[in-house]
Amino acid sequence: MKFFIDTANLDQIKDAQDLGVLDGVTTNPSLMAKEGITGADNIIEHYKKICEIVDGDVSAEVISTDFDGMVKEGEELAKLHDQIVVKIPMIKDGIKAIKYFSDKGIKTNCTLVFSAGQALLAAKAGATYVSPFIGRLDDISTDGLNLIAEIRLIYDNYGFETEILAASVRHTMHVLECAKLGADVMTGPLSSIEGLMKHPLTDIGLAKFLADYKKGNS
Ligand code: E4P
Repeated sequence: MKFFIDTANLDQIKDAQDLGVLDGVTTNPSLMAKEGITGADNIIEHYKKICEIVDGDVSAEVISTDFDGMVKEGEELAKLHDQIVVKIPMIKDGIKAIKYFSDKGIKTNCTLVFSAGQALLAAKAGATYVSPFIGRLDDISTDGLNLIAEIRLIYDNYGFETEILAASVRHTMHVLECAKLGADVMTGPLSSIEGLMKHPLTDIGLAKFLADYKKGNS
């Protein structure tokens, strides 16, 4: 399973990269705004900085919602760095744009996916990644994890190569459940990754080992 971090915060991206288990980064316009990154030039520069830090795919989202606009923006983004994945919303022109980029060998991430039907269509169009937003489904009392299971079944039935990128991951249990269900990738906050290493018995065990060592070596 690949671990992506879902942020535009450079310090958090560095922290995750330093941990040695990071495979990529996802961003979106809200995450860029949260970091105060505004204006086309600053946004472009920020993507470049992220690509310099992380050794893996970096999703950069288009703002246009029409085919020509998405193609223009996507081509400009893809030129920035070979790690850039063009992130395109699950709308009619988005599907056309994903097919266009797929035919050109440019990686895409189909975002804002909330149903298995949408995921099937994204795979048919040749998306590199499909991003089901599990946390936002949970937010409205719908089982986000069930969507991961449905997409896994459909993709395996037909051998689709599109990778399931579990998005809107909010906590460590989401990560674990997505891993059990066979999601190819998860993207979430750094805390959702760091939570995996926590166990009280580890802390208690280590304290005892160190205390016993001290007794025998003092
Ligand atoms: C995915 O690529 C999105 O950036 C993200 O996971 C959305 O998460 P949120 O629902 O926590 O905003």
